Amino acid sequence: MPNAVIVGTQWGDEGKAKVIDYLTEKSDVIIRFQGGSNAGHTVIVDGHKFVFHLVPSGIITPGKVCIVGNGVVVDMEQFLKEVDDLMESGISVEGRLMISNLAHLVLPYHKAIDQASESSRGESRIGTTGRGIGPAYADKVSRIGVRAGDLYEWDIFCEKFKAGFASAKQKVELLHNAPFDLNEEEILERYSKIRERLLPFIKDTSYYIFDAERAGKKLLFEGAQGTFLDVDHGTYPYVTSSNTISGSACTGAGVGPLSINHCIGIVKAYTTRVGNGPFPTELTDSTGDMLRDVGKEFGSTTGRPRRCGWFDAVMVRKAIQLNGISRLALTKLDVLSGLSEIKVCTHYEIDGWRTDQFPPNTQQYERVTPVYNIIPGWKRDISGCKKFSDLPSEAVNYIKQIRELCYGIPALIVSVGPERSQTIEVDGI
Ligand code: GDP
Ligand code: IMO
Ligand code: MG
Repeated sequence: MPNAVIVGTQWGDEGKAKVIDYLTEKSDVIIRFQGGSNAGHTVIVDGHKFVFHLVPSGIITPGKVCIVGNGVVVDMEQFLKEVDDLMESGISVEGRLMISNLAHLVLPYHKAIDQASESSRGESRIGTTGRGIGPAYADKVSRIGVRAGDLYEWDIFCEKFKAGFASAKQKVELLHNAPFDLNEEEILERYSKIRERLLPFIKDTSYYIFDAERAGKKLLFEGAQGTFLDVDHGTYPYVTSSNTISGSACTGAGVGPLSINHCIGIVKAYTTRVGNGPFPTELTDSTGDMLRDVGKEFGSTTGRPRRCGWFDAVMVRKAIQLNGISRLALTKLDVLSGLSEIKVCTHYEIDGWRTDQFPPNTQQYERVTPVYNIIPGWKRDISGCKKFSDLPSEAVNYIKQIRELCYGIPALIVSVGPERSQTIEVDGI
């Protein structure tokens, strides 16, 4: 398979990790390029469930090299927890897991700012994961961040940590009007202990990736979140703090654009969103409850119930445009089984006008009324289907309708269950 980047086309949790795990077999180096432990990436293999927040989802496959790129903000304690969990499951990461020396760290004080900032917003809070992501990226662009490579020189790490800590203290006290109860010395003591374990993982990964590519190795870039959580192109301010679209793979891994040959957009067969913000096709009725129950739509990071709604082709078309998507992977088709009819949003109406385009600002987006096509559903359970020809004709029709509404982009994969084996390959690349 050529080098490919995997992105979410909706608001995250599209099933990216399942597809990444599946495609890892055909790749050599898997690279996370943005986000942090706000991501929750689930892979299920032979009944064993792995949930990754930082470690790339390719790690389960023996021999594959996994990289946490410079664009990721890394909570080192969470990273080590994932390494420990993998070791407990009998998966060795030795020599095949790296963190870029340029990746910024998420430190305990970033989480404190995240929480204080959310509570100060009251009703208009974003509904963040509370993992300190926004404040860590804010420190990065304010040039007061601490990077993984700073751990090499303990004095420098301490100096930068103390400056960041003092700035966080001011922010929290201002936002929260309450004392800042983190203990600087205690955190530094903890980091001085884990530092020795972390150092072997920290590398200049852009050189590694460059050399791997020259040696003919295949690269798979693992996106986190989804297109509409992108800080520029998403439903701002109800977004995350990084660029989640495919272009971010270059800056977040340290490669040029010609290192990426394909972009695979992961599309859930319906839509979900965690956290606040507009969601035109949201279902607050029993169908929404059914999608949540059958699809087990509860956040992999926070356990929050995900808001559920119909498939929105306006969004996915915009995602195709923004990411340069060349193939789609349609996930969770099995969840729709049993519905007598399924709705698909084809376009919007805003203030009485029809539009096929995603509105340019969130105020307009909040006023959108979705316009639907109604498609006949299928009764039969499809979770055991192995080939495209095993699917009922109504499910095939649903896939074709989505393809027609999405610029004719073919599906590479149709996923009919959470297990690695519940994957139908449709079209090669
Ligand atoms: P990601 O963040 O995009 O990697 O997605 P998550 O892992 O947060 O959420 C997707 C959830 O759906 C996980 O619990 C997966 O195990 C599950 N899943 C993935 N693909 C399918 C599928 O085709 N059918 C069903 N029923 N579950 C799936
Ligand atoms: P994966 O990679 C779904 C959402 C949060 C919140 C907003 C901002 O698993 O698809 P943040 O903590 O990033 O500042 O929160 O973004 N969010 C996600 N929603 N899946 C994710 O990741 C998400 N990562 C962040 O719920 O609305
Ligand atoms: Mg997720």
